[in-house]
Amino acid sequence: MKTKDQDMNRRNMINRLSLGGIGLGVGSFSVPFNQPKEFNAFTRPVSFAIDQNKVRFFSPSFKNQFSIVMMADTHLFRDDKRGEPYSQYSNRMSKAYNTTKHFQTNKRTNPETCFINTLHIAAQLKTEMVALVGDMFSFPSEAAVEWIQHELKKTGLPYLYTAGNHDWHYEGINEPISTLRSTWINNRLLPMYQQENPMMGIREIHGINIITLDNSTYEISEEQLEFFTQQINTGKPTLLMVHIPLFAPGRSIGFGCGNPQWSASTDQNYELERRQQWPEKGHSATTMNFYKKVFSSDNLIGILAGHIHKQSLDVINGIPQIVTDANAVGAFLHVEFIPGEPIG
Ligand SMILES: [Fe+2]
Repeated sequence: MKTKDQDMNRRNMINRLSLGGIGLGVGSFSVPFNQPKEFNAFTRPVSFAIDQNKVRFFSPSFKNQFSIVMMADTHLFRDDKRGEPYSQYSNRMSKAYNTTKHFQTNKRTNPETCFINTLHIAAQLKTEMVALVGDMFSFPSEAAVEWIQHELKKTGLPYLYTAGNHDWHYEGINEPISTLRSTWINNRLLPMYQQENPMMGIREIHGINIITLDNSTYEISEEQLEFFTQQINTGKPTLLMVHIPLFAPGRSIGFGCGNPQWSASTDQNYELERRQQWPEKGHSATTMNFYKKVFSSDNLIGILAGHIHKQSLDVINGIPQIVTDANAVGAFLHVEFIPGEPIG
């Protein structure tokens, strides 16, 4: 049986391991985990591996092999007459991603084409779910919400959506960002949630809990912390998806959820984005407690996030956080759950 010291050594060895730029052409990476021999509930996977945008989690505790496709930051900007009264608030972001360069071919493309292609790939891969992890929209446009709903229905793939900081943001409306979020979720984004709670979502697939939490204001509420704690306490293997990556040592302030540096003094974009500045006092105690809870969870498989528009991997206290490049350039993560030990 493994001693506590051995377990701590393993954690120390991979604690703060941090890799960037694991996108196209930079190869693959894997970390072996020494799984404790005695456990009641699920504990950490034996290992994970990343090859470009393909992520594999291995564990003898997984019941069935399956995969999901995760994407974020499509930045759809389609609008119509209904958006005209709000053009002063959508003007900048409506032009931000009109044409993009595909992350693999480098050819000119656009967010709608990239989104449709990703759904086609997800269907071909026979994935069990599509996870839409924020900034699917550049601003809360009714036309864009209708368009994405139509495309999702055509594929028939189950999906789970959580908002990013742009989905509900009309720039220049002088209200707290938490108010903007609730207003424009209710006014525009509601169909995306399929009648579930917009702040937190969950799917259980083959015994694995897949959770989304809306941290698009960078903060976590008490209700969300309670929900996460309840789910983790079930002991089931759990995957967490959030739009804004959690603080990782050495990363930019964009890894801003639970980041001790996050405050008014580090907010460089509030004027550009015409929103209220982050608070002087930084994060709430609840957000910091959430951060601690996440990285002390024994049954958390990993965290998937967006927001940064660049693929990266950090391993914090043995828990991997993988950030996807933007779906606006065609990027996504194909995430496989594989019972057993890795082969090869
Ligand atoms: Fe984004």
